[in-house]
Amino acid sequence: MPNKTEALLYANENLPKFKSDLEDLVKIPSVSTDPNHTTDIRKTADWLKSKLSDLGFQETKIIETDGHPAVYGSYQVGPNAKTVLIYGHYDVQPADPIDLWKTEPFEPIIKDQRMYGRGASDMKGQIIASLAAVESMLKSGGAPVNIKYIIEGEEEIGSPNLAKALEKHADLLRCDVILNPDAGMISPTSPTIVYGLRGLAYFEIIIKGPNRDLHSGMFGGIVQNPAIVLSKLIAGMVNEDGVIQLPGYYDSVEELSLEERTELSRLPIKDEDLKEQTGAKKLHGEIGYTSVERVGARPTLDVNGMLSGFTGKGSKTIIPAWAMAKVSMRLVPHQDPKVVHQQLVTYIQNNVPDTVEWEVIQHAGGPAAITNREHPGVKALSEALEEIWHQKPFFKREGGSIPVVTEMQQIIGTESVLSGFGLPGDNIHSPNESLHIPTWEKGILALILFFYNYAGGYEN
Ligand code: BES
Ligand code: MN
Repeated sequence: MPNKTEALLYANENLPKFKSDLEDLVKIPSVSTDPNHTTDIRKTADWLKSKLSDLGFQETKIIETDGHPAVYGSYQVGPNAKTVLIYGHYDVQPADPIDLWKTEPFEPIIKDQRMYGRGASDMKGQIIASLAAVESMLKSGGAPVNIKYIIEGEEEIGSPNLAKALEKHADLLRCDVILNPDAGMISPTSPTIVYGLRGLAYFEIIIKGPNRDLHSGMFGGIVQNPAIVLSKLIAGMVNEDGVIQLPGYYDSVEELSLEERTELSRLPIKDEDLKEQTGAKKLHGEIGYTSVERVGARPTLDVNGMLSGFTGKGSKTIIPAWAMAKVSMRLVPHQDPKVVHQQLVTYIQNNVPDTVEWEVIQHAGGPAAITNREHPGVKALSEALEEIWHQKPFFKREGGSIPVVTEMQQIIGTESVLSGFGLPGDNIHSPNESLHIPTWEKGILALILFFYNYAGGYEN
């Protein structure tokens, strides 16, 4: 018989083992965007598959996709029990700029209650927290629900091949609720349930000038410089008030209700803290909205990187042949990445001079997501978090994106409960990423309670 008390005890006694599991996982550099890491990606998928088999999952398999593989597992207690599908992504962002790391990104080290390493927080730590909770239950008489896993390898590049795999394997993935611990919390003392995520549209803009880098003296003054053209285009995309200038960009954007604004204003997030978390001189964003609103419920446009001409040491006198920028938009509900693509193309058509050629490449992304806060899974997690933190969870809309949430709603028809135990100071996607161990340990206990809460008495 499943025994909750024993499971909690097992978890408490095995925290060192769970940490060493996490170290093993962080050691594999599963960078999805870098073709040099394809074998590491495969190794990570195999590691997770073996882990699930070792835990006693009756069915485990690698689901091949047109890109990196996903890992599937199913642990069945019976046809009448509810089924929780746990989502995870085992891929990580690149570690660079590598010289800004104080330790090796793929040699996890624990210091001052934090584990440092790429993916420690986003989201290998979250995967291991869920596996630790599951292990604790399975070693203590079994779980009170059926448990399935889907752990993909392409989330950090926008999950370009996941939807197709979800469609193909829809039957395997049937469940009552999806637990998605990839969304983090506000602070170590503020457990959080996330009910909204922004979408993403990501582009590469290339401006092509002369047929090679030219001597800037011989030819300077008679051809247009592509780096200047690109800079002007980018500068015109957002005005001084932080309002995006692509034609029609805000047409489908819904204004926040007064009710939601009031609720969001109660979150324990201060501009002072945000300033400190970023290290920026001053905060900046769309006029007329608070920081919490700007991050969770307003769309943005950002340059992720730019490249043109000579950027090495010293000087070189040239007019570059080309200039490129990676430009992305975080989207809110009702904005469609395809429409945004068209808006960007129209903007460039309207503003680019006829002295250059240009091209826009679209990368993967997806629409925003809003989840149902009344779902029984939300209640089960909310009570679990409260029991561990002695604090009711805060409900927040997050600025990050997780394409699978909308895809699961559309393809399987199932709602996700979004949470997690990462913190704003974890440096995800930045150098020196780390995981706050005490928060993570509480998270493991909370997840055990979640499964029991969800099994007992919550009608689906
Ligand atoms: N865990 C993050 C998403 C996230 C971050 C949610 C912060 C809530 C708060 C996820 O792994 C991520 O980084 N996703 C990418 C997705 C993109 C490539 C489509 C992102 O948001 O940049
Ligand atoms: Mn991420």
